[in-house]
Amino acid sequence: MTTDNPFVGYSDGEIDTNPSTATSLNDLIGQRYSRRATLIGGLKGFTVAALAGTMLAACDEDTPANNQQPTADAGADIQAVAGSMVTLQGSATDPDGTVDSVQWMQTEGPTVTLTGANTTMASFFAPAVTQDTQLVFSLRVTDNGLAVVTDEVTVTVSPALIGFMAIPKSLDDVVTVPDGYSVSVLYALGDPIDATTPPYSNNGSDTNFDRRAGDHHDALYYFGLESGGAPDPGNSQRGLLVMNHENITESYLHANGPTVTPDGRRPEAEARKEMLAHGLSIVEVSADNGWSIDRGSTFNRRITPLTPVDFSGPVAGNALLVTQYSPDGTEGRGTINNCANGFTPWNTDLTCEENWAFYFKRNPATDNGARSAKEITAFNRYGVTSTTGNYGWVTVQTADPADTSFARWNAEVMGGDATQDFRNEMNQFGWIVEIDPYDPASKPRKRTALGRFAHEGCWPSLFIDGTKPAWYMGDDNRNDYLYKFVSDTPWSAADADGTGLAVGDKYLDAGTLYVARFNEDGTGQWLALLLGQNGIGGGGAYPFADQADVLTHARLAADVAGATPMDRPEWTATNPRNGEMYLTLTNNRERSKPIEAANAANPRHYNDPNPGGDNFGNPNGHILRLKETGGSSEATSFEWDIFLFGADDSLDADNVNLSGLDGSNEFSSPDGLWFGRPSNISGQGFPLLWIQTDDGALTDQTNNQMLVAQPGTVGDGEAVTITNEASDGTTRQQGTFVGKSADDVNLRRFLVGPAECEITGIDSTPDGSAIFVNIQHPGENGGPGNITSNWPASQGGGGAGSRPRSATIVITKDDGGIVGY
Ligand code: FEO
Ligand code: CA
Ligand code: CA
Repeated sequence: MTTDNPFVGYSDGEIDTNPSTATSLNDLIGQRYSRRATLIGGLKGFTVAALAGTMLAACDEDTPANNQQPTADAGADIQAVAGSMVTLQGSATDPDGTVDSVQWMQTEGPTVTLTGANTTMASFFAPAVTQDTQLVFSLRVTDNGLAVVTDEVTVTVSPALIGFMAIPKSLDDVVTVPDGYSVSVLYALGDPIDATTPPYSNNGSDTNFDRRAGDHHDALYYFGLESGGAPDPGNSQRGLLVMNHENITESYLHANGPTVTPDGRRPEAEARKEMLAHGLSIVEVSADNGWSIDRGSTFNRRITPLTPVDFSGPVAGNALLVTQYSPDGTEGRGTINNCANGFTPWNTDLTCEENWAFYFKRNPATDNGARSAKEITAFNRYGVTSTTGNYGWVTVQTADPADTSFARWNAEVMGGDATQDFRNEMNQFGWIVEIDPYDPASKPRKRTALGRFAHEGCWPSLFIDGTKPAWYMGDDNRNDYLYKFVSDTPWSAADADGTGLAVGDKYLDAGTLYVARFNEDGTGQWLALLLGQNGIGGGGAYPFADQADVLTHARLAADVAGATPMDRPEWTATNPRNGEMYLTLTNNRERSKPIEAANAANPRHYNDPNPGGDNFGNPNGHILRLKETGGSSEATSFEWDIFLFGADDSLDADNVNLSGLDGSNEFSSPDGLWFGRPSNISGQGFPLLWIQTDDGALTDQTNNQMLVAQPGTVGDGEAVTITNEASDGTTRQQGTFVGKSADDVNLRRFLVGPAECEITGIDSTPDGSAIFVNIQHPGENGGPGNITSNWPASQGGGGAGSRPRSATIVITKDDGGIVGY
């Protein structure tokens, strides 16, 4: 398959003999003497003589009649692993004169770029392969009498495999990685993003969070930057990191934890700090003198819940988005609870609004009377039911009475109509937001065509010229769904050179939102969420007014269409080699998933007891994968299986530990998910899949962790029937499809984080030599008087008494190679 993903350096695995067949004058002459002279030797004798005579005259050189041929030795055949540097060590002599030139040429195998091709010692990086593949190189030696000889060497390249030793589980308060790797802390909570903001004192006294790193670092993406400030997707030395700050650990942000005034209000300064610690960071990073933030960069900025944003797509301007701040429903303020992410090939970031519903205060007992039945249905389905709102921000009495930064989180009917209050403010959240990191003045754009729910991730399909691209999105809620947005616009590779939100308007404002139904036989359908299709109409429990209503209430439309309830859909990732989509389903507890609710795609119901007691349902989660029919992002049907089941390795292998995990790779609650970039070996051949956990079930044995897998394809395992067991002793049989078992070759533990953290967010430089990983909320259960983690201060030893901070780390391989091998 040919892809137009701009990050693909070459098309691996396809046997492509060297296309350089143009024959030069010297080639023709040289081949007269070559033991492999095929061209001239195949011609009639007089033609050869005439041709050679003409050419030699043209060269104006004479060949001594008694010249002896030089020698060429291309060396012994070589075995190499994909991604490694291969050196071709040849030799050349001339018994009666001098060697005039040497030249290496490739004659067979996937084309590589040779360094030093005009010397006896040439080198190249072994390409990605999926099976042992031969590359043949010819060393051609020409002497000063123009005699030419050649010799060949064969290099057999084998697939690259995970190359580090799995690390053990750990409860230590540090980030642990395998031998041969190094960790450095790049960007921690409170770090200033400019040269004038003071360093972080980390004692609760710091302010100015719109010029500091936010809290709870989550998904991130590396955008290469050229010296003039333009996008340079291949640059592994300098780039912009775009990073989500999903939430806060409120207790550590203040000197003595959060406070309330005697009349029960949150102090404005505290609440403002908390709000500004949400959002995103865009920071310039460079590899000069080790990875660091360039605090002088004009690209550095924070996007917060107060940053002005625009709405775009079918819901922009709809009455559902009208607020006191935006009477025409086209603008809004900021983004919140940004969890996973996605990207576009036109160099923009997609950030996902996840658990926004809990930030709003809406007391049903007092507000329902002012609401329609439809509105109440929507509030209940989206969970806008908190009577306080997160962190009590709505209680703030602002010094400036006109400042509605806090009042906006009150979603109750307060004024005469929607332009006089924030009754619709909650409709402004739950979207995919596109951000142009290269234009610090650009306003983020909320792409309403991609639907509104608890957006976890938004990872794209492959980009194939002439085919409509898709983005895959999980809705992280118990028993909620997997979605796909397919653009109306076929991909044009020329748009990879474009930048910015105008290109996003072309691809992300018109398209079809689908939801997934997983059948018991391993197939599935994408159900279009379009008014008038799949039962979505103007009647029933929620009569949809128009397509804007369908998109704003995508969950309700998906309910009607018959989507499959899932065990909390988290991140999506696309295998860059074959386009298969992977989805983490982090867990689902018994209270919300009774045994009868198991289905083939969410098949397990069992007990994973831990020191806290029984733990029924699917406490360890699984990773599903999906293969579109015909491999097309436009497909409306697919096949699926379950790539891996999380489990404690002591659990029943026939019904629970279905992937055969052992101590070297057992994990629970997969969440973050990311394939190596296709611009280096980790996204080619057998790409590496990185799995991050946000777990509470295996945490008696280990802190949260990150593993590396090398997956096969959908269907590489088998159909199984398991016996589920509920807490009341009920048992029930369930069929499913499990992928090839895990083993020490295809799944290893790479990293364990510090105490009480979640591992989330990962990307690499395009060359794969450095990965950026986020450590979120270490010590989250503690507070100023009870500090439960000292990370990152503890990373180098010590740090006693230090408050924990979410932070981005950089991991490099000590030999400079690609991380993971
Ligand atoms: Fe923010 Fe579903 O994790
Ligand atoms: Ca000679
Ligand atoms: Ca997450």
